[in-house]
Amino acid sequence: MSRVKDPWEVQLMRQSGKRLAEVAAVLRESVTPGISTKDIDAIAEHEIRKRGGIPSFLGYTAGGPTPYPATICASPNDAVVHGIPNDTPLKEGDILSLDMGMIYGGYHSDHAFTVGVGNIPEEVQKLLEVTEASLWEGIRAAQPGNRIGDIGNAVERYVDPHGFGIVREYVGHGIGRAMHERPSVPNYGPANQGQLLKEGFCLAIEPMINLGGEETKVLRDGWTVVTKDGSLSAHFEHTITITNRGPEVLTVLDGGVIAPSP
Ligand code: MF3
Ligand code: CO
Repeated sequence: MSRVKDPWEVQLMRQSGKRLAEVAAVLRESVTPGISTKDIDAIAEHEIRKRGGIPSFLGYTAGGPTPYPATICASPNDAVVHGIPNDTPLKEGDILSLDMGMIYGGYHSDHAFTVGVGNIPEEVQKLLEVTEASLWEGIRAAQPGNRIGDIGNAVERYVDPHGFGIVREYVGHGIGRAMHERPSVPNYGPANQGQLLKEGFCLAIEPMINLGGEETKVLRDGWTVVTKDGSLSAHFEHTITITNRGPEVLTVLDGGVIAPSP
């Protein structure tokens, strides 16, 4: 069961989320042809620490064979999530998913987006747009009184007509004093099932959508998740809290965005 957070805890979640959104804005600007994901990682660590935060992925021990070695996950092209930053320069036409997390005042925020490096083909742009829009559909479904299953159902109903693959092996999660809290938040499944959503819940909603099939595999580094068919993949994630007025998105610059009921 997810734990209802006290108002003062939600306040710290807001501060954490806002700072992470600031970091994300800096990183987004840095994504240009020629930069390496290691360079972006260094910027991320600097920007997080500058704001009094602690990189939450660095040294993380669940989900891989060894402690996670970097501040961000940087997953280019057919990489879905958990790509380890390296020295390879990005090139025009690549896409890059950046996933980042920080702890501020003892509370975690988690955020991800996918961007094109320079110009990208129209069908790839479409994948990015559909994935981001599906995240907002999921957020909109996270109303108090709805259930966890309504979130994934909204994502799935939005993505399905486009024929893209919805990744099933990795899901969103509760978040708070730990990066991963209960419950899991899948990006698919039936509506009106799972835990009842209550005011004070904090969730990370994060659809991962493939241009091709939904299947993934893990590379031999033990971390990097790629699409089985080699197709491109996009990932968007926000940390939200559920209020009596609706879902409030925390990992945005101008905080306090309440998504209206669908
Ligand atoms: N941000 C990922 C998530 O949303 C977790 C990253 S795994 C780590 O669950 F090892 F990099 F921390
Ligand atoms: Co997450």
